[in-house]
Amino acid sequence: MSATAAVSGARIMAHIEALARCSAQPDGLTREYLSPELRAASDLVAGWMREAGMSARIDAMGNVAGRYEGVAPGLPCLMLGSHLDTVRDAGKYDGMLGVVTAIECVRALAARGVRLPFAVEVVGFGDEEGVRFGATLLGSRAVAGTLDPRVLDLADGDGVTLRDALGRYGRDPARIGDAARARAEILAYAELHIEQGPVLEAENLPVGVVTAINGATRLAVTIDGMAGHAGTVPMTLRRDALAAAAECVLAVEKRAANATELVATVGRLDAMPGAVNVIPGRVRFTVDIRSPRDADRVAAAGDVAAAIEAVCARRGVRAEIAKTHESGTAPCAPWLMEQLARAIAAEGLPVRELPSGAGHDGMAMIDIADIGMVFVRCKGGISHHPDESITAEDAGTGARVLLRFIESFQARRTA
Ligand code: GLV
Ligand code: MN
Ligand code: MN
Repeated sequence: MSATAAVSGARIMAHIEALARCSAQPDGLTREYLSPELRAASDLVAGWMREAGMSARIDAMGNVAGRYEGVAPGLPCLMLGSHLDTVRDAGKYDGMLGVVTAIECVRALAARGVRLPFAVEVVGFGDEEGVRFGATLLGSRAVAGTLDPRVLDLADGDGVTLRDALGRYGRDPARIGDAARARAEILAYAELHIEQGPVLEAENLPVGVVTAINGATRLAVTIDGMAGHAGTVPMTLRRDALAAAAECVLAVEKRAANATELVATVGRLDAMPGAVNVIPGRVRFTVDIRSPRDADRVAAAGDVAAAIEAVCARRGVRAEIAKTHESGTAPCAPWLMEQLARAIAAEGLPVRELPSGAGHDGMAMIDIADIGMVFVRCKGGISHHPDESITAEDAGTGARVLLRFIESFQARRTA
């Protein structure tokens, strides 16, 4: 039996299906941070961690954290992970594949009684997508110790604050700092994730090594106009917040349209009061801007804010623009990229390096550890969509690569 034969693509896929059933949506997958569905998914994951030979706990921020001791208890760890929350009407693999595959690798180690000169930890982060509270990477930022306690005042669409949601989840909001880990405890952070893009499929490759995660800025914009009767207020006297927002959306699109590798998206827009016969008085919308070059992204965010202000001034409505998230481009550490590349080559596969346009927990973990990522091919590059899919064969290949990486992992010596 080869050293990596014990990982099972079929078991990974079965676990993915079980997690997909933890959903707020009867006919699809939606799982928000600190929801009952996240609790159900976390309980499943903690159970699999224990079956695989790990200890498991839910930390102060609602992340699931498992640990497989090395040759002696209490050694620094190689941390593996990804996230368990999803976007709305999501695919099943974004985030979950990395958590489930990492547990599968530990199961294989434990089955052979292998203890390594370091511990292996697996984290299922509770919030990476940022869907519920607008701010993203809440789980991994708490582990990295960089979470600003002011996020506790953020409210979801129903007005429930993060503080209250943590309390309802059985976590003490005054103790979110307990989720933070010390730099000395983590030798490196490595994540396996679906590519969420078409490159690997186009090149007929099951896996690739990530070079860097593109930076991102998110804005929350509120436009206040004047609500009124849709039948009586003449067009010239209106201060229609939705008409202003529509112009702003086009300005966002235009700013990115001619820029190199810069993307900008308005992904959510809510008009109030939201009735067919009422002129919209207030609109809230989000802006998400990304680029591999931080300077381009920062410039675009400034231009977008200026364009929104200009549209609103011309239309006699008021704009309030809040930055809800900002993370710079997160480069993967060359020494981890090399070790991941060796694991891929050992599977007899070509090594393809590629950047990540999507955000990942590594963007937060980089503040506390060097990061590395391996991508697994997904069908048609489709992600953040129910059609997201991968094959069991590729899941198995990804797991064998990750297991090889873990087993031959050499921590970088620090001076
Ligand atoms: C997370 O998937 C993101 O890139 O927004
Ligand atoms: Mn995602
Ligand atoms: Mn993801």
